[in-house]
Amino acid sequence: MVRATYPEGVMTGARVYLDHAATTPVLPEVVDVVAARLRMLGNPSSLHASGRAARKVVEESRESIAAALGARPGEVVFTAGGTEADNLAVKGLFWARRTADPRRSRILASAVEHHAVLDAVRWLAAAEGAAVEWLPVDRLGRVDVDVLRAAIERDPASVALVTVMWANNEVGTVQPVEEIVQIARRQGVPVHSDAVQAVAHLPVDFGGSGVDAMTVSGHKVGGPVGVGALLVRRDVDVVPVLHGGGQERDVRSGTLDAASVAGLAVAVEVATACIARSTVEVGSLRDALVFAVMETVPDAVRNGDPHPGGALAGIANFSFPGCDGESLLLLLDALGIECSTGSACSAGVAEPSHVLLAMGVSPETARGSLRFSLGHTSTVADVAALARAIGPVVERARAAGVINRPGVR
Ligand SMILES: Cc1ncc(COP(=O)(O)O)c(C=O)c1O
Repeated sequence: MVRATYPEGVMTGARVYLDHAATTPVLPEVVDVVAARLRMLGNPSSLHASGRAARKVVEESRESIAAALGARPGEVVFTAGGTEADNLAVKGLFWARRTADPRRSRILASAVEHHAVLDAVRWLAAAEGAAVEWLPVDRLGRVDVDVLRAAIERDPASVALVTVMWANNEVGTVQPVEEIVQIARRQGVPVHSDAVQAVAHLPVDFGGSGVDAMTVSGHKVGGPVGVGALLVRRDVDVVPVLHGGGQERDVRSGTLDAASVAGLAVAVEVATACIARSTVEVGSLRDALVFAVMETVPDAVRNGDPHPGGALAGIANFSFPGCDGESLLLLLDALGIECSTGSACSAGVAEPSHVLLAMGVSPETARGSLRFSLGHTSTVADVAALARAIGPVVERARAAGVINRPGVR
């Protein structure tokens, strides 16, 4: 693991950081590259020497990302993060496909997508008249490919796109992306996959997978926040969301941030080179964490696919009956342990996670859920700290009941 290159406690202080799926510490190699590039001048679009130097950084980064992810350099479109790339994919594909043939108004999207996809799809339904079909998942969080097949075969000519994430950010379940591509391809329907959580943790081969567009985000792989990429096949049309200088093959405008792009490239390169080792190391820490939680709180329910290979190695999601997720989170935070709930706050009231609801978890149980996510700086000591804390914290949250539930009005 990369931990050894950090002086102990530098990245997270004395705190126990179990929220790598939210954002993971920037790799030391990335800090060096970004800092060096920030000291240099030049807009990559300028024709003079400084501009050409910045352009060289961008193009070398593009080549390196493409090589690490099984793509061609011309297929990498840099964006300001995963949210922008998801919006560009979903809206851009929809607009391009419907413009080419007005019958194409249906979007088939998994019910467990990140909000960057979910809300882009909902917006297309509300503002552009898209007809959305949410693909159901089983109790492990996996898309039912038979439902997808039936939905496409019912009227292939009316489908604008399919969007199914590579791996889920809340429960870690890996989706059957290749099977989905086979079904969609046969009918000429493009597939977008949000691979934000997958890239540093699973071997991701853009070309080999057959997806038409794929989202990557810097800060989930040890790179900077605010940079990402949409990998798009050259023969796939995408209508831009941002208009301006047309920097990225006229699909995405905006001055490229050469420093962040360079940092993204180093992060992707390092993370993908370490996948085999980190899957084993992070996976064994995750197993220890699951064991400790289940031993201490026997009625906790683990959400997601428990089989290795069926889920990301670093994510463990639990429901704690009789507890409120936010209360648990704040009690753990007070003890220096950081994790997350899957709930979104709507008007001050915690809404249960749409992912857990789609998996058939009841709203009450979903409200009592926490996600622990491990990564490249995680240690045995982190797991031991949670193992000591979780029992008393669950007891306190149960004793407090709903009376002290934050956010409940
Ligand atoms: C699956 C998934 N997609 C998209 C995003 C958004 O990426 P970004 O934070 O780079 O905008 C996230 C971030 O949590 C994510 O987990």
